[in-house]
Amino acid sequence: MKIAILPGDGIGPEIMEQAVRVLNCLDEPFEMETALVGGAGYEAHGHPLPDATLALAKAADAILFGAVGDWKYDKLERSLRPEQALLGLRKQLGLFANLRPAILYPELVGASSLKPEIVSGLDILIVRELTGDIYFGQPRGVRSAPDGQFKGQREGFDTMRYAEGEIRRIAHVGFQAAQKRSKRLTSVDKANVLETFQFWRDIVTEVHKEYQDVALDHMYVDNAAMQLVRAPKNFDVIVTGNMFGDILSDEAAMLTGSIGMLPSASLNERNQGMYEPSHGSAPDIAGKDIANPLATILSAAMMLRYSLNKPKQADRIETAVKKVLTQGFRTVDIHEAGTTRVGTREMGDAVVKALAA
Ligand code: IPM
Ligand code: MG
Repeated sequence: MKIAILPGDGIGPEIMEQAVRVLNCLDEPFEMETALVGGAGYEAHGHPLPDATLALAKAADAILFGAVGDWKYDKLERSLRPEQALLGLRKQLGLFANLRPAILYPELVGASSLKPEIVSGLDILIVRELTGDIYFGQPRGVRSAPDGQFKGQREGFDTMRYAEGEIRRIAHVGFQAAQKRSKRLTSVDKANVLETFQFWRDIVTEVHKEYQDVALDHMYVDNAAMQLVRAPKNFDVIVTGNMFGDILSDEAAMLTGSIGMLPSASLNERNQGMYEPSHGSAPDIAGKDIANPLATILSAAMMLRYSLNKPKQADRIETAVKKVLTQGFRTVDIHEAGTTRVGTREMGDAVVKALAA
């Protein structure tokens, strides 16, 4: 089994180093090959997604991705910015199904910005469509406004669109995820305003006929954003489009206190997947050995479960992570009085030790 390791920029390389150590402890015959991506790809090859990196990603059974981006690339033209590596990999590999769990570990309930009674025990899953919507819709650009009060002025425009098949396949992922959990699915849209999302609602309702054991409800995105902070435990699985999923998944992540704890998976129709922490490259703390490697380590566990068919090894990693939290080890982002503050490498050491025990 071949794993492409793409550490990227900022804290990417240091958190990835710990995840690779953990994978190496499992005694599985994984072949791991590393390649440059993001700003690192641009520096070495003039492009954030160099051809060799894309080829490696396509040939691999799974991709473990660190993080990309740095303010110093903000002035580059869009097609050369680090984020394009992420968008390019998603599109080129057809990674349309993005699974973003938001789980609150009991030890970290104090790190959440919500009151413990509202948030303790939180365990929700956001299923975000990842290769369509206004992110990729054409046409887009800057043009002379063809009509309206500002006709003739320059205007920026993007296109929100979803094809029926695109909605159907992500709806299936959402319903099937709900079947494996508490059999409740909330589809989030903006059907009161947008044609694209009225259509979304109609198609999700149709697909629901194939999943009568799942209770489906529909919610407008503004209300969903509110309910997520009011009563987040009322949700179980949320399915939504690319743009709304981007926003709601950051909100949900923050409910758990640390975005440094959350993994994610992006899967295509063959269950080939890219796995990455939900957080970004945090260039301000890069190289300081303080970043939390647990989201990347937990992403490796998701990879074992969804793409490499090693559920027992995935469980082992997840159990080891719970154990280090119980033991009181905390990186600075989740540190509280009475716990042991550790650096990136020490946190990796603790997980490796817990795995061996
Ligand atoms: C995410 C990120 C990306 C997105 C950016 C970096 C392109 O915010 O994965 O949520 O908007 O999808
Ligand atoms: Mg985002």
